[in-house]
Amino acid sequence: MDHSLTNHPILVTGGAGFIGCNFIRCLFAHCPAVSVINLDALTYAGSLNNVKDLELQDRYRFLHGDIGDAALVKQTLAEHDVRTIVNFAAESHVDRSITGPAAFIQTNIIGTFTLLDAARQAWAGKEDSCRFLHVSTDEVYGTLGPEDPAFAETTPYAPNSPYAASKAASDHLVRAYHHTYGLPTLTTNCSNNYGPYQYPEKLIPLMILNALTGKPLPVYGDGLQVRDWLYVEDHCAAIEAVLTRGRPGETYNVGGRTEKKNIEIVHLICEELDRLHPKSGGGSYREQITFVKDRPGHDRRYAINADKIQAELSWTPRESFETGIRKTIRWFLDHQDWVNSLMSEKYAEWITLNYAQR
Ligand code: NAD
Ligand code: DAU
Repeated sequence: MDHSLTNHPILVTGGAGFIGCNFIRCLFAHCPAVSVINLDALTYAGSLNNVKDLELQDRYRFLHGDIGDAALVKQTLAEHDVRTIVNFAAESHVDRSITGPAAFIQTNIIGTFTLLDAARQAWAGKEDSCRFLHVSTDEVYGTLGPEDPAFAETTPYAPNSPYAASKAASDHLVRAYHHTYGLPTLTTNCSNNYGPYQYPEKLIPLMILNALTGKPLPVYGDGLQVRDWLYVEDHCAAIEAVLTRGRPGETYNVGGRTEKKNIEIVHLICEELDRLHPKSGGGSYREQITFVKDRPGHDRRYAINADKIQAELSWTPRESFETGIRKTIRWFLDHQDWVNSLMSEKYAEWITLNYAQR
């Protein structure tokens, strides 16, 4: 039987971030009877501007707090009789994990442990009516050579960055809580997402905004690294499918079967912007591309084998890269207020820290 999302409020953690806010929006669009508690610490990556429209709905509640706060998590699970948790909360940027790994250990490992342990205690004896979905990444599998087969659920873990290692550790804890305590867990390992509300530290939004503001487009190394891109709403649909119909204890890989080299992505963004928003002085945005010092330990290629989720849950991506990137660029052009709200001193500090010495 499908897991019901409507009998009890769903605890979504990290719902003020990029994927989390898209997930709540998608869920509300598909399921009129669902209610959500969004627990988010509002780090630099989370913003109430990402969930403004949701605030207007009675079935949405925001809770400002940390997933590592055991007392708060326990109280929330008990007070609202929460039976479904979707854990997006994380430090998510690889470059930041290189300059400051401690926060990744704290939130991604200790935070996930705290949530798992609170759920174990709250759900004792009623596990059948509960689900804990942990949103993870393909980066736990490490890197692929050009001819290697795509990552399957059986690929051994080989994380290469502090971010990937912290997510791998959290995945292992999720697995252990299922095997040891029978916690009804599900894990999704997804490839690179892009779309509305993505924080402009990640490749696609950074390139769009740098292009529009006349700044350099900083391509790491030779730009020939490969990522497997998925439009965020397709990821959200996959999470919903796994949450309602996935088998507890299982992991599901999610990806777009859209392998692209970084430099191709940057060229595509430039071409789209040349068409949609031509440079005032003429010329192409391509002229702003600069090759900069590579990311240390940079994984060369990611690719996802999504056969399992397709076969078991009939999930496939709906958006092609060409349609998804067009929608994304249009969204950034149309949401200048949102962009302006992020342009803080802290953002400028990050750009200096990550790019000044490259
Ligand atoms: P994001 O950085 O945009 O958002 C993270 C959110 O978590 C923010 O709202 C932040 O305030 C919140 N948060 C951080 N620490 C917290 C804490 N201790 N307690 C409560 N909230 C906290 O991240 P994203 O890109 O939306 O990624 C969401 C999840 O999906 C992450 O777990 C990430 O590892 C995973 N993932 C991301 C991608 C991608 O391409 N972005 C791909 C696969 C998996
Ligand atoms: O694969 C899933 C992962 O995808 C998620 O788990 C992470 O949370 C998410 O951040 C993303 O990780 P990446 O490191 O792949 O994403 P990022 O956007 O930082 O970089 C994508 C590629 O572009 C990568 O090869 C590095 C390169 N890059 C990135 C930036 C920010 C550049 O060349 N220049 C840049 O300025």
